[in-house]
Amino acid sequence: MERLRHGREVGRLRNLGVVVNLEGPMGPVWRANSTPGGPGGGCRVMGLGSALPSTRVTNADLEGFLDTSDEWIVSRTGIRERRVAGPEENLLSLAARSARACLAAASVSPQEVDTIICSSSSPDETFPSLACRLQAELGCPLGPAFDIQAACSGAIYGLAMAQSLIQSGMSRRVLVVAAEIFSRLVDWSDRSTAVLFGDGAGAFLVGGPADPGSEILALELGADGRGAAALGTQAVSPDPQSLPGMPDYTSSQRSLGRVVTMNGREVFRFSTRILEQVVARLAQSAGMTTSEITLVVPHQANSRILATAAGRLNYPIERFVSNVERTGNTSSASIPLALAEGAAGGLCHDGDMVCLVAFGAGLTWGGLLLRWGSMGVAVDDPRGPA
Ligand SMILES: CC(C)(COP(=O)(O)OP(=O)(O)OC[C@H]1O[C@@H](n2cnc3c(N)ncnc32)[C@H](O)[C@@H]1OP(=O)(O)O)[C@@H](O)C(=O)NCCC(=O)NCCS
Repeated sequence: MERLRHGREVGRLRNLGVVVNLEGPMGPVWRANSTPGGPGGGCRVMGLGSALPSTRVTNADLEGFLDTSDEWIVSRTGIRERRVAGPEENLLSLAARSARACLAAASVSPQEVDTIICSSSSPDETFPSLACRLQAELGCPLGPAFDIQAACSGAIYGLAMAQSLIQSGMSRRVLVVAAEIFSRLVDWSDRSTAVLFGDGAGAFLVGGPADPGSEILALELGADGRGAAALGTQAVSPDPQSLPGMPDYTSSQRSLGRVVTMNGREVFRFSTRILEQVVARLAQSAGMTTSEITLVVPHQANSRILATAAGRLNYPIERFVSNVERTGNTSSASIPLALAEGAAGGLCHDGDMVCLVAFGAGLTWGGLLLRWGSMGVAVDDPRGPA
């Protein structure tokens, strides 16, 4: 087993390739790199799909009922608009659209998916899980289906679980779906959070080393629960505060019984630091320098976080894929959404080193390095390409 330079090796999980637990600068971190030809080898991402609701809410729309301005929102976050689910949409319908897009792009039928993992920070049910409902909706075989909660890092946590299940031999084809309807979790009368978030879903299909697609070269998962208070939710009365001019889509606010709370500055500090560190550690895990990373697809929290991290890495901002301007922060759906749009727009080429980095409430983080290989990508956006 490889011993990482700053690491404290504590064990190897059987059949999982190289797995190292180490004391990182922020505490113990779970890291793995896929050993080509080793047990399980590098799993492949075989397909990617994303889905957005059609209702578009611009900053000007928010100006209509919140004490805010397009100038404030754009200069602090880079966000110009976000999508909001309509009354006829729910988490399952968004998740199913992204999953169908993903499977069609990968030319894999739902019957070939043996495991489903869903991530959501805005679940509309405590149980049954979104994954179980999605399994029935898609008509997948009766394999395991479960949800994970790692906030905005959920898609990367899901990909890591998928890799582990495939490498251990428990699963062959794992569908990882991240879906969020934050418009039902934000307090639309709170300008400090309402302007930040949006709705959407993204799905990855993960297969084994013999499958076509993009190879997972390295991954990292971590959490620092000492920062749990920085970003979370709190219970509220079911009666939303109504502001003059509030449009229809805000009527579902607080329908989940909780609203988002955040210490923006603390989250900002954490996000910029962890983003830079994870890119560097993934490059190190894969035996390369950060200059060899072709593209970074970060969690789309806001463009100031991305610009700060890109600067620290000495990257031109173009190396960071971003669609936050048009989607806002879609929590765990943001990475598959940004990657799908970027790849569909021709940003990714065979052999590119593509680094996905997530961070969010918990505080959690996760990173994954892909060697891009030809794979199907589909974007389901009723408004058409950006
Ligand atoms: C949220 C964030 C944009 C706020 O920017 P900031 O520069 O830290 O702003 P502050 O919170 O200090 O607020 C500055 C002022 O703007 C006001 N303000 C807050 N939201 C506003 C809005 N939407 N419109 C206008 N003014 C606003 C505040 O009330 C405050 O006013 P005051 O000085 O009179 O008290 C920034 O902290 C951030 O990006 N944090 C990370 C958030 C994030 O990405 N979270 C999700 C991670 S997964």
